[in-house]
Amino acid sequence: MLKLQKHLFSLDDDIIYLNCAYMSPVSKQVEAAGLTGIQSKRSPQRIKPPHFFEAADQVRHRFSTLINAEAQSIAITPSASYGIATVAHNTPIAASQNIVVLSEQFPSNIYSWKRLAEQNGASLRIVEPPSVSKQRSEQWNQRILERIDTQTAVVAMPHVHWADGTLFDLENIGKRARDVGAAFIIDGTQSVGALPFNIQTIQPDALICAAYKWLLGPYGIGVAYYGPRYADGVPLEENWISRKDSEHFGGLVKYKEEYQPGVVRFDVGGRSNFITLAMLDAALKHIEDWGVLAIQEYCSALTEESVYTLRNEGFWIEEAEGRASHLFGIRVREDIAMERMIEAIHAARISVSIRGNAVRISPHIYNTREDMDVLTEILLKQAQKASMPL
Ligand SMILES: Cc1ncc(COP(=O)(O)O)c(C=O)c1O
Repeated sequence: MLKLQKHLFSLDDDIIYLNCAYMSPVSKQVEAAGLTGIQSKRSPQRIKPPHFFEAADQVRHRFSTLINAEAQSIAITPSASYGIATVAHNTPIAASQNIVVLSEQFPSNIYSWKRLAEQNGASLRIVEPPSVSKQRSEQWNQRILERIDTQTAVVAMPHVHWADGTLFDLENIGKRARDVGAAFIIDGTQSVGALPFNIQTIQPDALICAAYKWLLGPYGIGVAYYGPRYADGVPLEENWISRKDSEHFGGLVKYKEEYQPGVVRFDVGGRSNFITLAMLDAALKHIEDWGVLAIQEYCSALTEESVYTLRNEGFWIEEAEGRASHLFGIRVREDIAMERMIEAIHAARISVSIRGNAVRISPHIYNTREDMDVLTEILLKQAQKASMPL
């Protein structure tokens, strides 16, 4: 079992940070890598042509290992929306077709699809969750399968819902998408790095991740896997380094039709960023060392008891099989005033996110059981107050 790793981070002592789904803290090592990157430009003559390639390839290698793919199928992006836009620009769609997405899906995995549908007279099919409190995840997954039909051109969704952690059965949904010939596109921003993802079993056509949450990297960089369906696609922009022989700086104006091998063509311009790439490399190294499954298990062990206690007091939390342990929502009882609850959480200096009438918690290996106890106590106190006669 993975041990607490708080000593590797510089989190404020007086804060309980249960909000990695908002933004992860950087570790001391990741921060140091960033500083070295900044300082490297003090002496630009020391930055040699190979440096423009090595860190990017190292990140490709680490990320591909994490998801069990080939390094050549990884591109360096600035954000999730960029990775999704690349896919949308390379996905033909007819007016009779539809794009399947989920209710309240994160906007970066919606707007490109909405535009693609509008421009082609196609429809965006939003799959709503069932209004049930038991087997909600199971039924939602079933609904998704039912809404995919022979007219579906794209299924674009996450592995876990960003607002409440609902877990989606990507293996079965992917199979259904393949059966009807639809592109299967996953936004892994809220899961990859903390929840195992295997390209070989899930077989998506693209997997897009911003790096500043569960990949523990800095803001402004992401990674994306593109499978054979998109490998020959057209990038959003044409930059010098994505073209064949770009290693030879003296010959850059011998313009080339061909791209670098693999999906390097989808790299964002300026992808060799010596600061963010170095930070992401150090962050991926941590995840490699700890293991993704071990991170998920750590979060599960950390939260188990609180989940049990809160459920008994009438708070709604999805069953363990239907949600992730690194990110989930605690839906507050209807008799509890949400504003009072938020005030109490803030007063205790706990950082979580509020999504509708749910408290979204997202722990990591720097959190302790005591962190969860403090939050649980506050929720229970508010519940007690609500139950008291006026
Ligand atoms: C599911 C999901 N995808 C993507 C993002 C970030 O998107 P982008 O990188 O386009 O800013 C977030 C941020 O909260 C998210 O929750």
